Amino acid sequence: MKEKVEVSAPGKLMLLGEHAVVYNRPCIVTAVGQRMHATLEVTDEKILSIEAPDVQVTGYTKLMSEAGKGEIPKGARFVEMAVKNFTNQHPIPNGLRVTTRSGFSEFGFGSSSASIVCVTKGLSEILGLGLDNRSLFNLSYQTVLGVQGTGSGFDVAAGIYGGTLYFFTGGKEIEPLEIESLPLVVGYTGIKADTTEIIREVAQRFEGQSQLLNILYDQISTLVKKARVSLKLRDWTGLGDWMNYNQEFLTKLGVSSQKLDDMIAAARRAGAFGAKLSGAGGGDCMIALVADETREKVAEAIIQAGGQVINVDNNVEGARIES
Ligand code: MEV
Repeated sequence: MKEKVEVSAPGKLMLLGEHAVVYNRPCIVTAVGQRMHATLEVTDEKILSIEAPDVQVTGYTKLMSEAGKGEIPKGARFVEMAVKNFTNQHPIPNGLRVTTRSGFSEFGFGSSSASIVCVTKGLSEILGLGLDNRSLFNLSYQTVLGVQGTGSGFDVAAGIYGGTLYFFTGGKEIEPLEIESLPLVVGYTGIKADTTEIIREVAQRFEGQSQLLNILYDQISTLVKKARVSLKLRDWTGLGDWMNYNQEFLTKLGVSSQKLDDMIAAARRAGAFGAKLSGAGGGDCMIALVADETREKVAEAIIQAGGQVINVDNNVEGARIES
């Protein structure tokens, strides 16, 4: 058993298929250069301690045997449940100190899911198990469902596998797409979205209209499959059109907002191939697909519309052991 490991995992950006992917449909997601870093240290006393200053968790401790039970501060929930799920299946005889740092918790790039991935991969390394990506995904997805009660698992898949993935609900399909990075401009609305709440709102909005909702999700599913082809061909005009089309369905689902709409419209007017919200909606980020020549103009337009442009690499490496 190792005494200490440092592990990192990338955040994610949803490219196409959000919401539909929660309900047995595919999506396309890319891993981003903003990484969560976690240090896992084995300690003598059978105590779990968590330091996650980015999400206001400091000096939090609990008996290892109590992990996952009782009151858990919001910021510690994902790490603690990941430890619990992992050690239920692969017990460790000692205590554990987990320290995380990310610096991107406000943008909706999936810092919570990246922390689950870090803990799961880190514990596998500490115990010398060398779990493969599929096993890491299954454990991590179990944690997502344990904490949120809902979710497709696309975020933990991006954290584990990295790159750009064609992903089907619950990991029924995880296909790494062999592409280079995508020419994206990412605009942040300044508003943090609550994914679980927005998923619930969509379900409520369409109560008694499940047929209509299914038609919308089927149409999103169809366009995601077509977008996958455009992506592989590096057909940016085609991909941009699918993004615009996807945004129409997200508007029909009721998850866009005035601010997102303004930023998306501004990006399109400035010459983007396509633009849409990314993630649950309501806030967080929008993405625009651009040519080299339009990048600056699109970025400027997003700022003029009240957004903050965030420098983000995409299609980056998945979870890795740093030391
Ligand atoms: C949130 O970023 C994307 C959703 O599709 C939720 C999920 O897939 O888990 C709304």
